[in-house]
Amino acid sequence: MTEKIKIRGRQVLDGVVQISGAKNAALPLLAASLLSPETLQLTNVPPLVDVQTMLALLGEMGVKFRVQPTSDYAMSIELQADAVECFIAPYDIVKKMRASILVLGPLLSRFGECCVSLPGGCAIGVRPVDLHLRGMEALGVNISLKDGYISAKAPRGLRGADFNFPSATVTGTENMIMAAVLASGTTVLRNAAKEPEIEDLANCLNQMGADISGHGSSTIEIRGVTGLRAAKHDVLPDRIEAGTYALAAGITNGAVDLIGGDFRRLLPTFLDKITEAGLWVSDVDGGIRVESSGKISAIQVETQPFPGYPTDLQAQMMAMLCMADGESDICETIWENRFLHVAELTRMGADIGVSGAHAHIRGVRHLLGAPVFATDLRASFSLVLAALAADGESILDRVYHLDRGYCAVKKKLAGCGVTVERFR
Ligand code: EPU
Repeated sequence: MTEKIKIRGRQVLDGVVQISGAKNAALPLLAASLLSPETLQLTNVPPLVDVQTMLALLGEMGVKFRVQPTSDYAMSIELQADAVECFIAPYDIVKKMRASILVLGPLLSRFGECCVSLPGGCAIGVRPVDLHLRGMEALGVNISLKDGYISAKAPRGLRGADFNFPSATVTGTENMIMAAVLASGTTVLRNAAKEPEIEDLANCLNQMGADISGHGSSTIEIRGVTGLRAAKHDVLPDRIEAGTYALAAGITNGAVDLIGGDFRRLLPTFLDKITEAGLWVSDVDGGIRVESSGKISAIQVETQPFPGYPTDLQAQMMAMLCMADGESDICETIWENRFLHVAELTRMGADIGVSGAHAHIRGVRHLLGAPVFATDLRASFSLVLAALAADGESILDRVYHLDRGYCAVKKKLAGCGVTVERFR
């Protein structure tokens, strides 16, 4: 039986949340351990199911690791890939977590071969990896697809190239950076993604001895080196977790101090949008404070690559806008099927119309508690937000989606005076 969360409505979130390390930074950083036989020590790693899945995958390949919890919210992990014998990412693991594709770049860079299961579709969209493969081919990799697996070989090693991404991809950019790090010659990536998690990966790789510049911009240059050394790196704070708790303060008429990162830099458009929606944002020691003004205004939101409004905060923003004064619009431009939470929010009394990539949200005065189920990771928290503000009680099913990307939810909420109950 899967776990559920019981949430009493009409609670006010008021307190301090220590933001954990970012899932989407930790996953490529863990994969980067494959690039060197020396140790990589990562601190501020969030204790999440997706991190466990990546560790299981690396473990099957022969990477040794030691995990030490440093708090309820963080772990330190030391990894060493000095005895990698298996270059296969099996279907069983890739189907659980698409980010498993992140082993493609490092395995090819260091060993010149690998075999990774094709990820297939997932709840939020078709999610092909064609751009990852095109990029690898530009670096001299021979790719063939067989029995649902990508078989990739570079018998003469990888060589630097000039590659222009036809459209920006986050993990595609990360894979190409990791592939190019040990290639011969220089690689230039154009129209690269600019997400802060990519910068974090490149900063760590540079500490390991890589020669990367331009990360954080759309043109990244990687001059190949012959080997990488040991390094220690602190994982970037999770801007999506921070944004999620900011919206929790907004929808419950509360206030929250988000501590642990430079969220003005990490969430520029998001903070503009919540300000437009009537929330107050101010600076506090070590982070920012987000406070309800007692009123939520209707706004227009369009998801965009960084520094635009993040798609990973779309479902949570929609939950808050369900209770706005007036009519809001959300346009989802990144994923073709990321409105699965709409049906569940509607069951709680929300008034939302969807047409293709557009959702039109008419604000309602009250949401009503209901049994709901999580459809994907970010959708799961949007339902927690709606349930906290609703009248009555809600039961959220399929909590495993939440556990993939949010750690210590019960404890972090309790720190802000909000109680939820987990049960089977
Ligand atoms: N795309 C292609 N071909 C490719 C790669 C991507 O067509 O080869 C398309 C995708 O289908 C999508 C768009 O390009 O429509 C953008 O996809 P991208 O590759 O940027 O996404 P991703 O790297 O698979 C990461 C995050 C996602 C986040 C997106 C967008 C990780 C591990 N995952 O995915 O995070 O939504 O970037 O910012 O970094 C989440 O954490 O909940 C999550 C889904």
